[in-house]
Amino acid sequence: MAEKHFKYVIVGGGVAAGYAAREFARLGVNPGELAIISKEAVAPYERPALSKAYLFPQGSARLPGFHVCVGSGGERLLPEWYTEKGIELILSTEIVKADLASKALVSSSGEIFKYDTLIIATGSTVIKLSDFGVKGADAKGIFYLREIDDADQLVEAIQAKKGGKAVIVGGGYIGLELGATLQINDLDVTMVYPEPWCMPRLFTSGIAAFYEGYYANKGIKIVKGTVAVGFDSDSNGEVTAVNLKDGRTLEADVVVVGVGGRPLTTLFKGQVDEEKGGIKTDAFFKTSVPDVYAVGDVATFPLKLYSELRRVEHVDHARKSAEQAVKAIKASEGVGSVEEYDYLPYFYSRAFNLSWQFYGDNVGETVLFGDTDPASAKPKFGSYWIKDGRVVGAFLEAGTPEENQAIARVARLQPPVDSLDQLAADGLAFASKI
Ligand code: FDA
Ligand code: NAD
Repeated sequence: MAEKHFKYVIVGGGVAAGYAAREFARLGVNPGELAIISKEAVAPYERPALSKAYLFPQGSARLPGFHVCVGSGGERLLPEWYTEKGIELILSTEIVKADLASKALVSSSGEIFKYDTLIIATGSTVIKLSDFGVKGADAKGIFYLREIDDADQLVEAIQAKKGGKAVIVGGGYIGLELGATLQINDLDVTMVYPEPWCMPRLFTSGIAAFYEGYYANKGIKIVKGTVAVGFDSDSNGEVTAVNLKDGRTLEADVVVVGVGGRPLTTLFKGQVDEEKGGIKTDAFFKTSVPDVYAVGDVATFPLKLYSELRRVEHVDHARKSAEQAVKAIKASEGVGSVEEYDYLPYFYSRAFNLSWQFYGDNVGETVLFGDTDPASAKPKFGSYWIKDGRVVGAFLEAGTPEENQAIARVARLQPPVDSLDQLAADGLAFASKI
């Protein structure tokens, strides 16, 4: 069987892989030294586009428009860029076996890839309703969204079912972003999720009330406090309805499910230390196995600011962790230097004309400030999280770039506060003064 050897192999060809490739090129990589192996058929791209502009009815984003690193304002790495740099992009190739002891990866077609240094960048996969035994969950017309192939199938269904009924299962990131894009595509949208409010992983009830109100004003129906327990389908196997645990039934021509992600670590089980569902790394993204690094969604790394190991499933960390690992690899070869990773968590989302950013940690007491009326012409509001008398997290809807920088500064510097009432009254002015 064919065997290839590379000095560096990145397994996974998503966001982290693309940013790692750019950093390798920046620090110096010789032709033939680096390979990226991806089960996707396309060069690394900015995955966040898939739940936003990719699904727009007009002016939709398409490749090559959103290859990395345009999402952070950087150079767009087209497939030709990899060729010019002598970086091998091995696409449509799934690694099915990894043997970290012999430094070998095996693809589904039996090819063997050997490496000196490995970067694991396999990201996450979707949690499926069939994983919990939900009846009828394999009917046609039920979609998940992780990769570009999923997005293409969804675009086809959205076009075929215009004017029809869509049910969104899940009230997290995918739920809120897809609820909006399906509504914009003229589908009659109902969202259903088990919690008392949307995005409970991050939102307070006050923040959520704004988005739920805004979505309701757009005609989106929201069913909370229950879950999908089964799906009905017609004689062609096409989904027709979602059955809820509370006994209700929602008609559906299209269903989109976003009930969470799961980091893809199975290839490495038992071979490398794990923690909090991810592959445990140090501040340089080195794993417990020599010459093996893990970055992006799969890495559980020391979050210095909070003296805690964390796993982060967001794009900013995927980019920065990838760059950090490559800096560390090159520094170990005597090229450049690297400091400990000191990450400030940064999450964001966009839907309709809304756009929010969050920095820091969402723990402790909270204060809400600003105009939280979903019917306002230009709603603008935010929230602070306060722990041990210091502001540790900040959220802002509709911030300008300067205002977003200001809340990031607050989350980083953790200024003390005397009075929560005063903080609520000062609102954004508090951050702008820091
Ligand atoms: P990523 O998932 O990007 O890449 C992993 C790659 O590895 C994929 O190409 C996969 O096919 C490949 N792979 C996996 N197993 C393999 C194997 N065995 N063999 C070969 N290849 C394999 N975040 C944010 O901050 N803001 C946002 O707006 C969004 N929006 C968003 C939308 C959608 C639809 C999704 C799914 C996710 C987001 N995210 C986000 C999250 C963000 O995209 C995510 O955290 C990063 O893409 C993680 O980057 P990674 O490189 O770790 O994984
Ligand atoms: P999520 O964790 O954000 O939300 C999952 C939601 O699923 C929960 O909030 C809950 O409402 C719901 N849920 C859980 N079990 C359920 C059940 N049995 N029935 C119905 N609902 C149930 O995950 P997601 O929205 O699926 O996103 C997947 C991944 O993609 C995550 O890693 C996320 O960070 C990433 N993503 C991020 C962004 C962003 O950062 N803007 C956008 C899209 C996707």
